Amino acid sequence: MDALSIKRRFGIIGTSHALDRAVTVASQVAPTDLSVLVLGESGVGKEVMPRVVHHFSKRKHGPFIAVNCGAIPEGTIDSELFGHEKGAFTGATESRKGYFEEANGGTIFLDEVAELPLTTQVRLLRVLETGEFIRVGSSKVQKTDVRVVAATNVDFSSAIQRGRFREDLYYRLSQVPIEMPPLRARASDIHLLFRKFTTDFSEQYQMPPLSLSPDAVEVLENYPWPGNIRQLKNTTEQMSILEIERRIDSDTLLSYLPESHRSRLPIREAVDSESTMNEREILYKVLFDMRREMQDLKQVVHDLMQGTSHQSDPDLARRLFEQPPASLKGLPVGRNDESDPVSVADAGGWVRQEDPSIGPMKATNDAEEVEEIEEVLSLQDSEKELIRRALAKHRNRRKYAALELGISERTLYRKIKEYGLK
Ligand SMILES: Nc1ncnc2c1ncn2[C@@H]1O[C@H](COP(=O)(O)OP(=O)(O)OP(=O)(O)O)[C@@H](O)[C@H]1O
Ligand SMILES: [Mg+2]
Repeated sequence: MDALSIKRRFGIIGTSHALDRAVTVASQVAPTDLSVLVLGESGVGKEVMPRVVHHFSKRKHGPFIAVNCGAIPEGTIDSELFGHEKGAFTGATESRKGYFEEANGGTIFLDEVAELPLTTQVRLLRVLETGEFIRVGSSKVQKTDVRVVAATNVDFSSAIQRGRFREDLYYRLSQVPIEMPPLRARASDIHLLFRKFTTDFSEQYQMPPLSLSPDAVEVLENYPWPGNIRQLKNTTEQMSILEIERRIDSDTLLSYLPESHRSRLPIREAVDSESTMNEREILYKVLFDMRREMQDLKQVVHDLMQGTSHQSDPDLARRLFEQPPASLKGLPVGRNDESDPVSVADAGGWVRQEDPSIGPMKATNDAEEVEEIEEVLSLQDSEKELIRRALAKHRNRRKYAALELGISERTLYRKIKEYGLK
């Protein structure tokens, strides 16, 4: 079978030469009984390779047992792998077969093999060389016919140097080494993997898939992905759930990537943030500013009613009377705008009418009241317009429109009726 068919069968995404080479070697070595050691950084996709080896071997109808050596406590690992006799240790009330006995005629996948304690390494070397093992607490030598495929993300040479891993075992395990390339060495596969993951998550979470702007693709392909495919998958999942705007730009993507690894990214020229604001952000900004101004006005009215002058708060007075209305300044709103405590994501909760801060006022001062009612009305117009656009964009699918607006479908339904939207 060629590399393409194998990748399809096992859901391995990617077209890079190094990946194809790894897949081809796995299928070529499969019919032999040679031990295979899968090497590669964390998250590169090592775990599928032992299955490929098993599937194309003459053992394919025999058992396949995967053991995570790093997850089994040192005290029990010998017994897990090689079994024990009744009474071998406190709590051994029954005798038990180990994985090497269970896997007779099949394949054992020893994942994180570098984590094996030295005493277990001795037992493993023996079973690899002679097929012999002894259950814990027994003196009877037994035979098993198991093919071993191991994997690790640890640098063996340093583990051997530090005396943590037996050199003879290393050579016995790596009769055929298979190197899985890191994601940064497969730049052309990164966008492909992203598209696969976002499609999967869109089905899982019933949301439209994400897409990337050209500059986001550039960031995606130049980021070094220290956590490899696992990190890419997690990042895609986080954005799939958290981002209302389904078109991801480079700034949004960057906000999900740890800063410590960004140095390889191309330096982007500073752009005028105002010009990059999209329509929705501008509308939100206008709404936020209007709310702020309205709250300030409320405070003034309240002070007047109480007989205290607004000059008791000089800052408030300046904001209201000495500066142009904030809503005209069109400052950007974004996840990185730390000066603005209200994030875009908060807007959904806020545009709801039941929010007391935008309810009708009981002010006695006519001029203030008129002004405020006007603001409420213009706020409602903006809200209506936002809803209309979200509905149009999602071809009247309320679920997605609500998602984009950050409000519940029920609230959206109520608003549609309230504003008489079709
Ligand atoms: N080529 C690929 N196509 C699609 N998904 C992949 C591919 N390679 C890996 N994945 C996914 O990436 C994640 C990490 O892969 P995997 O668990 O095999 O990493 P690993 O190399 O064993 O890492 P570690 O050394 O940390 O255990 C898994 O969810 C896996 O399904
Ligand atoms: Mg793994």
